[in-house]
Amino acid sequence: MNRRVGLYPGSFDPIHNGHLELIDRCAPLFDVLYVAVLRNESKQALFSVEERIEMIGPLVARYANCRVESFSGLLVDFARKIGAGTIVRGLRAVADFDYELKMVSMNRRLESGVETVFLMPTDDTIHLSSSLIKEVCVLGGDISGLVPEPVRELLEAKLASRPQAGPRPAEDPL
Ligand code: PNS
Repeated sequence: MNRRVGLYPGSFDPIHNGHLELIDRCAPLFDVLYVAVLRNESKQALFSVEERIEMIGPLVARYANCRVESFSGLLVDFARKIGAGTIVRGLRAVADFDYELKMVSMNRRLESGVETVFLMPTDDTIHLSSSLIKEVCVLGGDISGLVPEPVRELLEAKLASRPQAGPRPAEDPL
């Protein structure tokens, strides 16, 4: 029997309620859903890949079919490796569309056997992005309700532990 394997890739730096809402909606659509954290040495992140995987694990533990992994290299190569036929992405706004369209057409060119599907977030999470949440948090704004409580605690601790001085360097992960 063919298993339906879904792949939800992203940076998840950190995971927020929009990501979790999407997982909640797409986990029932697949026999196995991989939440895959991109390992990208050239893009500086606030949390290490291991920290992100550790953070996500307990949040998706309620879905028996959900696995959390990291990947590097091409997404379609990882999809092939795990036998995923479907990539899932969230589509929040017009601003996402251009980027996602380019990714879809490149991925299709690289691997025509993998389909990408998009889920529109609900009104409650449509405005969320990891970078915006980090920015609000670093400026002392309240991010409760935007990320799960353990993520809020980890994010605040991580930001508090960073050196304070000077303007933000260009490669700052915020
Ligand atoms: O959460 P993000 O940062 O929007 O996720 C982007 C991600 C991880 C889906 C994308 O950067 C990706 O697939 N990277 C892997 C490299 C790759 O396959 N590139 C070619 C396809 S455009």
